[in-house]
Amino acid sequence: MSTLLQVDELRVRFPTRTGTIEAVRGVSFSLGRERLGIVGESGSGKSQTGRAIMGLTPPHAQVTAKRLDFDGIDLLNVSARQRRTLRGSRIAMVLQDPKYSLNPVMSVGRQIVETLRTHEDVSRNEARSRALQMLEAVQIRDPERVFNLYPHEVSGGMGQRAMIAMMLIAGPELLIADEPTSALDVTVQLEVLGILDRLVADRGMGLIFISHDLRLVSSFCDRVIVMYAGRIVEEIAASDLANARHPYTRGLLDCMPKIGADRHPLPTLQRQAEWSL
Ligand SMILES: Nc1ncnc2c1ncn2[C@@H]1O[C@H](COP(=O)(O)OP(=O)(O)OP(=O)(O)O)[C@@H](O)[C@H]1O
Ligand SMILES: [Mg+2]
Repeated sequence: MSTLLQVDELRVRFPTRTGTIEAVRGVSFSLGRERLGIVGESGSGKSQTGRAIMGLTPPHAQVTAKRLDFDGIDLLNVSARQRRTLRGSRIAMVLQDPKYSLNPVMSVGRQIVETLRTHEDVSRNEARSRALQMLEAVQIRDPERVFNLYPHEVSGGMGQRAMIAMMLIAGPELLIADEPTSALDVTVQLEVLGILDRLVADRGMGLIFISHDLRLVSSFCDRVIVMYAGRIVEEIAASDLANARHPYTRGLLDCMPKIGADRHPLPTLQRQAEWSL
């Protein structure tokens, strides 16, 4: 399988008055046209890993890596202009909170149209009909109506789907989806995952799927990376998750409720200091 993304020793640091926060501490992985899951608890560095690849790290942070290559392009040394061109057209990211990602003063449809027109030379009419098609593809049932709504007028789940539509409209080769379905109810969640799944299969898109939901990730992805305190503690084929070795992954698996099992007391994760070394 050809490599789309190569990440070697990625580090993200936030200097603060009281010291440096090491959000990502030497993460390495490669990605082909496949579905890679990243799981880990809150604060383990999942989003910052995705943002560093996307070039969306806050300005005061320091990003370093031995290698950060997308399809032969050295992402750490491209110009800001090249970065912007890549972003949206070839690499897209569905951010964790759609509320902060949609422009509050522009209708949902117009945002999708503008995104498409930034990356492709298409007429207004064609852009509109493609935006409507994309809204339909993410299971928005009345795309004509939703097209004209402003972000504050749509529900959380609709906003998230609109965001996914906006990210997919230009046909990226790599999609980083950060908790893309966390605001959706379970049935819609499965529909959206189905859409992403088809895109990976039909277009040969690479997908990084970030989630804290180990069960979801293992059923949806080909491979799973488990992060803890800014590092990868385990990388495993999704089908082999039951045989995970690292005590943190084992702990996560043991904490998942099982139907029919005794739930009292509820198992909780006992973190060990050596996991974050
Ligand atoms: N702007 C920032 N300034 C300082 N520290 C930050 C900043 N953004 C993130 N961090 C720190 O980086 C670490 C990793 O954060 P990140 O958002 O990647 O976690 P996450 O794994 O995505 O968590 P969650 O599951 O809650 O989304 C955290 O300790 C966080 O406090
Ligand atoms: Mg996050």
